Amino acid sequence: MVIGPQKTGTTALYLFLIMHPSISSNFPSLKTFEEVQFFNSNNYHKGIDWYMEFFPVPSNVTTDFLFEKSANYFPSEDSPRRAAALLPKAKIITLLINPSDRAYSWYQHQRAHEDHAALRYSFYEVISAGHHAPPELRSLQNRCLVPGLYAVHIERWLTYYPPSQLLIIDGQQLRTDPAAVMDEVQKFLGVSPYYNYSQALTFDPQKGFWCQLLEGGRTKCLGKSKGRKYAAMDAESRAFLSRYYRDHNVELSKLLHRLGQPLPAWVREELQKVR
Ligand SMILES: *[C@@H]1O[C@H](CO)[C@@H](O)[C@H](O)[C@H]1NC(C)=O
Ligand SMILES: *[C@@H]1O[C@H](CO)[C@@H](O)[C@H](O)[C@H]1NC(C)=O
Repeated sequence: MVIGPQKTGTTALYLFLIMHPSISSNFPSLKTFEEVQFFNSNNYHKGIDWYMEFFPVPSNVTTDFLFEKSANYFPSEDSPRRAAALLPKAKIITLLINPSDRAYSWYQHQRAHEDHAALRYSFYEVISAGHHAPPELRSLQNRCLVPGLYAVHIERWLTYYPPSQLLIIDGQQLRTDPAAVMDEVQKFLGVSPYYNYSQALTFDPQKGFWCQLLEGGRTKCLGKSKGRKYAAMDAESRAFLSRYYRDHNVELSKLLHRLGQPLPAWVREELQKVR
């Protein structure tokens, strides 16, 4: 299960995973932007049969790896407990980027989808809104900031799954060196045959990211809506968020240390900033 959070590269990871000959994903759901969103929502009450309908019957030929990506699972209170109850042996993958960048990218995503409040309020207004701000602003703020409290959410997943079943990917590294990350993913999953992503992916300098190499040198990249361009985050918001996330990033660094996982570059950078 690729659990998110949103705006960390989960769609890219999804596309890389389905390139693998032994890995397949769920059939798309029309209602939820192609994600099943079972464990985090009322869909859960439709039951396991409803969930399983999204997946092909596992074949005994090759494809023994089925996965789904629902980027809202990560910060969800209910998802880890519910998922562990039904899929105790599942392997869980989460991607992390700098939570400040994630928040900004998420806000831009909401604007691109014409979220009323996101169009109405500036990014700084959203992140700095106080307790007495209008409910729609407070709600937007929560959805923007809370998923970035990474250590809290990872600890919740680790309440229900052993560390050996959780892979934490540096979303920044997935962007810059996807083949290395996908090697790690394959090892984590124990999937065979080995698929050489160095040969299957090519960097598209115009789009600024890695794309699938097709026959005849053509490439297939993420959909139009992805990799969208917008102005860089203003310095005031950047400073606000570095302070906001500082203690949480410290907690994350301790957690990664405990798990014996390397610190992503952005964690180290953030820890050296604001006191
Ligand atoms: C898959 O399993 C079915 C039912 O056990 C069997 O009839 C079929 O021959 C198997 N196919 C392969 C390719 O092993
Ligand atoms: C994958 O392909 C690259 C490029 O052709 C090659 O250099 C590398 O050795 C291959 N990796 C493995 C593990 O086979």
